[in-house]
Amino acid sequence: MTRIVPAQRFVEGGGFVVHRPFPVEALSYVDPFLLIDEMGPVKYAPGEAIGAPDHPHRGFETVTYIIDGEMEHEDSHGHRGAIRSGDVQWMTAGAGVIHSEMPSATMQQNGGLMHGFQIWVNLPKALKMTQPRYQEYTSAQLPIVQDEDRWIRIIAGTVGDVRSPIETTVPTTMLHFKLRPHTTTSFAIEPGSNAIVHTIGGAATVEGKAIGSHQDAVLENTAASVSVTATDQGFDGLLLAGLPLREPVARYGPLVMNSIDEVQAAFADFRAGKFGEIAREN
Ligand code: CO
Repeated sequence: MTRIVPAQRFVEGGGFVVHRPFPVEALSYVDPFLLIDEMGPVKYAPGEAIGAPDHPHRGFETVTYIIDGEMEHEDSHGHRGAIRSGDVQWMTAGAGVIHSEMPSATMQQNGGLMHGFQIWVNLPKALKMTQPRYQEYTSAQLPIVQDEDRWIRIIAGTVGDVRSPIETTVPTTMLHFKLRPHTTTSFAIEPGSNAIVHTIGGAATVEGKAIGSHQDAVLENTAASVSVTATDQGFDGLLLAGLPLREPVARYGPLVMNSIDEVQAAFADFRAGKFGEIAREN
């Protein structure tokens, strides 16, 4: 079954605009995916760019994919770096990190176009308290499959015999793809996955259902492929697919565990300073 879900507009903590198909009141998650935020596209004037200052995560993975712009990241384990156009940071928060995700100093000063995604992927119960880990790849390191009809950046999973270097805990596909008008592409995914096709631009039919601006197609327990046909506008989208974990989900903001007790313990650990803090030179 294919459902069409609107991506609702939210203004996040720091004041930046996102479009979010879930979590919203009507749809809290699509197992194993916990959140999709499309950030922008927004053109910042000098001094206007804003981000997400210090905040914790525990129990899942955050994926940051930048289409346009530049984010800087630093965390309580001493990790820091920049994510630029076409780059991906796949962070396994596991037992816990505190990090900040901010537009680069250059962007804060000069302004510019910011457009990207943050996606949360749940961790199975056995890995929720694993050591934090980063998988960071620049746009040049991520495979692209391209022919007359389509352009596909492989963030996770495979297209044909081309595989992303990113390791995932369950079979997961994450693709940014663009289709020329009136073309159809069939994406192979793990049978039994839950899948989402998120519209970035243009319009398409996904397994026979139409989606357009700020809409997502959500497919549960899929067959071995998902078929997308671009309309006369062409289509620019994101495909996510993953085998569901089928475990209880208890969440409070950036803490996602299996029970309320575990969420409360996470919050207590955070308040007690057990997630550490970001070391900064002043
Ligand atoms: Co974060």
